[in-house]
Amino acid sequence: MSNPFQPLLQPGRIGQLEIRNRIFMSPMGSNFAETDGTCGERIQAYYEERAKGGAGLLTMGVCSVAFPHGTGEPYQVGVSRDDFIPGLSQVAARVHRHGAKIAMQLQHGGKTAALDRAQGRELWVPSMPKMVKNDMMSAITQDELKNFIGIGPHPVRIRVMDHADIAQMIEYFAAAALRAKQAGFDAVELHGAHTYILAGFLSAYSNQREDEYGGPLENRARLLLETLRAVKARVGADFPVWIRLDGEELHTPGGITLADAMATAKMCEAAGADAISVSAYATLTSGVVFTEAPIPQKPGAYMSNAAAIKGVLNIPVITAGRIEPEVAAKAIAQGEMDFVAMARKMLADPEIPIKLIQNRPQDIRPCIYCYACVSEIFVNRRVKCAVNAQTGHEFEHPITPAVMPKHVVIVGGGPAGMEAARVAAIRGHKVTLLERSDRLGGTLFFAGLAYPENGKLLDYLVEQVKNLPIEVKLSAQVSKTSVAALKPAVIVVATGAKRQAPAIAGAEQQHVWSGDELRRLMTGDRADEVAKAKLNLAERAMFKAGGMLKVTDSAEALQSLSKLWMPLGKKVVIVGGGLVGLELAEFLLARGRDVTVLEPSDKAGRELSIVRRWRVLDVVKSHGTLHLKAQVQEITANHVVWQDAEGVTQQTPANSVVLAIGAEADDTVAIELADCGVPLHRIGDCAGVNYIEGAMHEGHRAGRTV
Ligand SMILES: Cc1cc2nc3c(=O)[nH]c(=O)nc-3n(C[C@H](O)[C@H](O)[C@H](O)COP(=O)(O)O)c2cc1C
Repeated sequence: MSNPFQPLLQPGRIGQLEIRNRIFMSPMGSNFAETDGTCGERIQAYYEERAKGGAGLLTMGVCSVAFPHGTGEPYQVGVSRDDFIPGLSQVAARVHRHGAKIAMQLQHGGKTAALDRAQGRELWVPSMPKMVKNDMMSAITQDELKNFIGIGPHPVRIRVMDHADIAQMIEYFAAAALRAKQAGFDAVELHGAHTYILAGFLSAYSNQREDEYGGPLENRARLLLETLRAVKARVGADFPVWIRLDGEELHTPGGITLADAMATAKMCEAAGADAISVSAYATLTSGVVFTEAPIPQKPGAYMSNAAAIKGVLNIPVITAGRIEPEVAAKAIAQGEMDFVAMARKMLADPEIPIKLIQNRPQDIRPCIYCYACVSEIFVNRRVKCAVNAQTGHEFEHPITPAVMPKHVVIVGGGPAGMEAARVAAIRGHKVTLLERSDRLGGTLFFAGLAYPENGKLLDYLVEQVKNLPIEVKLSAQVSKTSVAALKPAVIVVATGAKRQAPAIAGAEQQHVWSGDELRRLMTGDRADEVAKAKLNLAERAMFKAGGMLKVTDSAEALQSLSKLWMPLGKKVVIVGGGLVGLELAEFLLARGRDVTVLEPSDKAGRELSIVRRWRVLDVVKSHGTLHLKAQVQEITANHVVWQDAEGVTQQTPANSVVLAIGAEADDTVAIELADCGVPLHRIGDCAGVNYIEGAMHEGHRAGRTV
């Protein structure tokens, strides 16, 4: 059978550079360098892993041309001195060993150089920046605030660049490009996007200069073009140099438009650029706009801009922005782009290219768009991936064959149990996976219902468990005797959390759902008991019909069924504005419910990553209602009675109430099996509620270490 990803897999070329396929790793600031900006084992192994995974070209994100000046991250890569070259050479050599190419993204942060701000250095800008008001910080917890990017004891110092500074900036870039070449890199990308210095000059919003570097686009593009020419002159005409541009600056009055971007791209081509990479930016008027650009929630967000830019160029175009492989393949085949750049997908699964080459898309570990990765950058920490525990830890956590293969019995077929089973089986252990309900998935099933992106992870894990030598026993009765009979050498308990109804007057009524009841009904875990207690006859009939059709067996089918039917009335009050409460609110708002969330503390969604929290809070506040510091007192037949921050009693009408509080580790099974006489590991929510990321990371650790 022919491979549908073929257009992605054919070789490509930028200038003189031959590239084995059309898949790039998009530039990402990873915070994986050492504190002195050198490239140590962590970042070398991280890039090597992605080269091994089959990508055509990797782009090393935000390499600082004036380190530490112009940086935003505490562990950013430096390329401003010759002593950075040995570490960079190691990266290039390790990438080349696997047949991939590597480009270096050269960057100076300009007004966005958060580390300059925090450490009291001058921020270099084209002209005095405008103040942007937003309420992003209101969602940030005290703990996060302590480490928040850009915050320091010094007053902000701004330096409007004079001509000597401009000449210095051009020299920074040219010298850094030469070092990239000397280190064995195959190309450089000039970061001309995301409000960093080159984009700052390009944007009429940020650049109010009155000299030859401000005013009309030709003037605003002058710094970029002079930099490009200087770089080309330094590295030689044959060394590929391309530019990353914003196809558009969103939420930015007078900012970069598509027409600007097209004209700038043409000027770059005329000045010798070998390609253009298309991204986008949004001025942070609120946290949620960060998920429009530069890190979009919307699939294929920048593709139409990229196609328009490609339409006016004769050089290749690289496009990023949540592009699925099949979409990229089609766009390349239709001439709308030349290369696809993937960022988050490459964190989740470095082997995407190989799996596409082998036409095994079902084996690609999906990004769940939880924004855990980039949220770390906001708090000055190293990037992580919720679904891939190895990201950034390749050097210390390889999966190696078991020295002594043994029988590992895993209790609980949710994400933690399945991930542990997967890794243990890959290592050669004999694995038995016991699950109480009649299907795998556990809480991930419910999580996939509330946020469909999670459903893809469920499908991936189920597929892996199916195809590895793992013995799965569904509807398993777990007791000390039954587990001991399996003669395990190690037991891993991954039985999840319990969400009991808290002691609120009226919580026992039929229209009040505990998180556990809702989860059990929708995921089929002893659902009949719940249905009997909670549903009327007509509802039960519909529920049965769903069951008979087996629609509850796939996360996708559940999504569509839930649009038609959910056991919740029009007006829903959710008690608890944590991760579960807010994602449920988002899900119900999309299904036409009037939703009010009552959160007892002063912050909602603290278990969500910062960026995803901004997004969900925006949805809930703009389409529903969120009350903080709301103490629920009683649930009546038609209302929830609660006390607000001022101690005033309020009543919110409710046809249904969901209690999304009180999740706690369910250690019942672990306690029962504790004296089986073999080592026992507790992982995932049953060891402490930590959601998908905790499940995946602990599952990985257990699988790696048993
Ligand atoms: C953790 C993280 C760090 C990023 N850092 C950079 C960066 O250093 N330079 C850059 O141009 N873009 C950066 N981006 C944006 C990506 O290159 C990419 O354009 C964006 O994530 C959309 O692609 P995706 O949907 O495949 O993730 C970053 C994205 C992420 C997720």
